[in-house]
Amino acid sequence: MSNVKFLSGERFPLEMHKVRMVQKINLLPVEERRRSMQEAGFNTFLLRNRDVFLDMLTDSGVNAMSEKQYAAMMQADDSYAGSETFYRLEAVLQDIFGAKYFLPAHQGRACEHIISKVLVKPGSVALMNYHFTTTKAHITLMGGSIEEIISDEGLNIQSTAPFKGDVDIDKLNEAIKRLGKDKIAFMRIEAGTNLVGGQPVSMSNMREVSRICREKGIPLVYDASLLSDNLYFIKTREKEYRDVDIQSITREMASLVDIVYFSARKLGSARGGGILVSDEGLFLKMREWIPIYEGFLTYGGMSVREMEALAVGLRETMDMDVISQTPIFVEALCNELIAEGAPVLTPPGGLGCHLDATEFCSHIPQTQYRAGALAAAAFIAGGVRGMERGTLSEQRNDDGSERLADMELLRLAMPKRVVTLSQIKYIADRIVWLYKNRHLIGGLEFVEEPKMLRFFFGRLKPIGNWPDLLVEQFRKDFGESL
Ligand code: F0G
Repeated sequence: MSNVKFLSGERFPLEMHKVRMVQKINLLPVEERRRSMQEAGFNTFLLRNRDVFLDMLTDSGVNAMSEKQYAAMMQADDSYAGSETFYRLEAVLQDIFGAKYFLPAHQGRACEHIISKVLVKPGSVALMNYHFTTTKAHITLMGGSIEEIISDEGLNIQSTAPFKGDVDIDKLNEAIKRLGKDKIAFMRIEAGTNLVGGQPVSMSNMREVSRICREKGIPLVYDASLLSDNLYFIKTREKEYRDVDIQSITREMASLVDIVYFSARKLGSARGGGILVSDEGLFLKMREWIPIYEGFLTYGGMSVREMEALAVGLRETMDMDVISQTPIFVEALCNELIAEGAPVLTPPGGLGCHLDATEFCSHIPQTQYRAGALAAAAFIAGGVRGMERGTLSEQRNDDGSERLADMELLRLAMPKRVVTLSQIKYIADRIVWLYKNRHLIGGLEFVEEPKMLRFFFGRLKPIGNWPDLLVEQFRKDFGESL
């Protein structure tokens, strides 16, 4: 393939772009990283960016934009209503997804809010391959609940299955039989399934889910926030699509579902989001809420400049040289770690490299947030900011007990076209060092614990003085270096 180069038999990722604008970053000494982590309540969401060397928290709103995206921003048509910018974006989306209507929203979770408001009723259940934090929150707020029907392989951390995001068809049939069609708000498929490690869904699986949902009259919703990675995997892992162009794959996927929504902070490397639908009745029901929660129908909370950048970014998403960049860099980081025996989720997916904290920190009880502890330790070790995706990211059960996560992961997200190969090697070096010294990492406990989405603002403290021991060991091994 054109965008993965081979050198003396070695497979390595090649940047299919050149860097023409840069931002300086700082690498603080390890003692200051430890202090900064303390000030952030051992929560990587609360770190100040100026203290972060490599920001791998997310690929949301931090992807590199192309020169053409920046250029497009200059022709933005600013107006409250009727903006030409909106019509340009609408035309691109209609063309790419083959949908009739576009509803703009300020970001992905805003789409989830609108969709839940229209389709979820108290007591109803939304089926899905796997939840995303904000999706679940919006469904729950409307009085509904979720049920996950991902393939068993999806929760198997080390696997060779190419499409771990696939829906388990037997579980889908069983859930429909048990709940009855009327209790099911909708079926949701998430592209590039985020919380199980950026794992893709195959077209053949989508086809089957679509067939069943259409037969039973259950609305099928597609979260396309991580579509670009998923498209890459369909093209490279699903044989019958090897020679099909990205645009045709996208159209085919969209034709299988009733609603497509996305976070444009991810898809299209801009900011904002939106909903695509072809059914007029659904469109009209959702449209009512846009001016109340998002803004007038021709901007929906987005700035016109972002809409112009998005229109161009979406077109660029139809190019393998663009969308392959994240998966091949994720794969490179995973391979560096696997070569040194550090436990990572496999096969490498899109979105980021996911460290398996269950194995990395098996000595820390799950109730002491082993993935959160690993996130704090990785920052101290290398100034690398990742995101806990485990028990900390869950919400407690109604009786106050912990809901233990299926997987304890530290996600090192790969912002699109931002991270270089030498930075990948640096991250791998520090993580491997941490793995060799993993016995030094200890648990965390809450000092302040918010009720909703506690991982955003919660503050924690280390159990024992393990961060100091980690710094001490770092100095022994790395001497004067930062
Ligand atoms: N759906 C998926 C699959 C997502 O990954 C996200 C965001 C959303 C919906 C919500 O979109 O942030 O624009 O409101 N994921 C980000 C992440 C936050 O870091 O993984 P949003």
